[in-house]
Amino acid sequence: MIRKYKWLRVSGGIVLALAVAAALFSLQPEIAPISPPDAAQFSADSINRGKKLAALGDCSACHTRPGGMTNSGGLAMDTPFGTIYSSNITPDATSGIGSWSYPAFRRAMRYGIDRHGHYLYPAFPYTSFTQTSNDDLQDLYAFLMTQPAVSYRPPETRLSFPFSIRQGMAAWNWLFLQPGERAPDPNQSAIWNRGAYLAGGLGHCSACHSPRNLAAAEKHGSDALSGGIAEGWTAPALNGHSPAPVAWDQTQLQHYLRTGYSREHGVAAGPMGPVIAGGLSQQSDEDLEALAHWLVSFQPATTAQADELTARAEQRSQRLDSAGARQYSGSCMVCHSQQKGPQLLGVRPSLALNSNLYTDTPDNLIRIVLDGISHPATANLGTMPGFRHQLSDRQIATLLNWLRTDFAGQAPWTDLENKVADIRQNSHGAE
Ligand code: HEC
Ligand code: HEC
Ligand code: HEC
Repeated sequence: MIRKYKWLRVSGGIVLALAVAAALFSLQPEIAPISPPDAAQFSADSINRGKKLAALGDCSACHTRPGGMTNSGGLAMDTPFGTIYSSNITPDATSGIGSWSYPAFRRAMRYGIDRHGHYLYPAFPYTSFTQTSNDDLQDLYAFLMTQPAVSYRPPETRLSFPFSIRQGMAAWNWLFLQPGERAPDPNQSAIWNRGAYLAGGLGHCSACHSPRNLAAAEKHGSDALSGGIAEGWTAPALNGHSPAPVAWDQTQLQHYLRTGYSREHGVAAGPMGPVIAGGLSQQSDEDLEALAHWLVSFQPATTAQADELTARAEQRSQRLDSAGARQYSGSCMVCHSQQKGPQLLGVRPSLALNSNLYTDTPDNLIRIVLDGISHPATANLGTMPGFRHQLSDRQIATLLNWLRTDFAGQAPWTDLENKVADIRQNSHGAE
């Protein structure tokens, strides 16, 4: 009921905003088409830099449908307003962006407006990309325009009324888009500002790690990076509200952003996996250092020590005095115990240190136990089997609440068995 009521309020607000927008904004002009630029006009250096920037911005992750050619579009993204399909951003003149001049490309990245003058939906994270410098946008353009042109027209996006009217985004932008580069913070070091630039612009960390308001816009200020939702996973807070039991330090963060694994925290298992695999792992050491340096500046001071937490959990798991403990011992310990055991391939994350055990939402853990990790963020991490067909909803709930209380020392999650059943139904399962 409450949800419905909220959406009613949102739609009402949007209709009103639409009326305001119609009055306030005239239509945006079309930018004249060009013939696809000759590759020779871009330098190899510029193209190479652009390749790295495209990785940082995860362009291909959203612009490639399963089985489709890189960046040719057609990936379906579900939103409460309907399905949005990503565009073809290869340099094909008719179905892609081959006829886009650099100013047309820059306008899309800065203002979320396509070459014809139509407003784009913020499922395309231009609210972050807008912060990218002109130099970086030039390099990105050089890279995209020198990739293979693919002729493919993605299905048309048809949202429910009033969201179907793209012009309505003018009002949304007016309310929520802060266009253009941010001035560096003069009170911070150059490396900190570099980190803020990478994260806030092409890295678009806040698209997943910030909570959103009723109009689906990211919250700013002290709410920025305080935790959000991505593809049904919880993206934990990266600011002072970080749930990590042991504070992230710069070395651990840098290693995590490069490899998807940190000894004191664990692995990137869900949507963070591709962000690392296709994007962050390809950045320079200097840039990852800057990102880590910037992130660490928000970490809360915690005194917990990784070794102590792990040792306590190890002791706890030796006592098989409950159904949860026995389940853990039977199904998980062989790969997750920190004692010497048969050395299997991959890493051995200590579950006592995992942020997911310390967040209010059990969703990430449920997903990992049901479906395992078949695509590690980087190859050396190894894979984890799913338990969808071995464990019942009740067994998974018992096990996870045992980990939650006995490993993490937190109050048990409520209604856990139903949540497991729900996610089991609505997730696809590993093939
Ligand atoms: C989180 C998903 C996501 C990411 C990441 C993403 N895009 Fe997109 N992009 C979209 C969607 C969805 C659309 C279509 C929006 C619409 O139809 O209103 C789009 C549209 C565009 C358009 C407009 C194309 C047209 O024909 O109208 C351009 C240009 C673009 N993206 C470039 C990029 C670049 C460059 C990157 C990487 C730096 C990138 N995108 C990363 C989701 C994404
Ligand atoms: C065959 C070995 C194996 C078994 C059995 C196993 N895991 Fe894992 N698990 C792994 C590996 C390897 C990873 C890291 C995989 C990666 O990131 O690619 C992992 C990762 C995880 C993660 C993510 C950790 C993090 O830091 O985010 C969780 C949670 C997890 N396992 C829980 C469990 C639970 C609960 C069980 C028992 C039901 C279990 N695992 C059984 C091998 C295993
Ligand atoms: C597509 C959504 C998405 C984007 C973009 C994204 N993240 Fe994440 N991130 C997640 C999710 C979801 C998790 C937790 C579960 C997982 O996927 O492993 C996570 C986990 C993390 C963690 C581990 C936190 C912890 O306490 O365990 C760090 C650190 C992190 N992300 C940093 C970043 C940074 C820095 C950026 C930007 C450069 C970024 N993320 C961009 C979705 C995202």
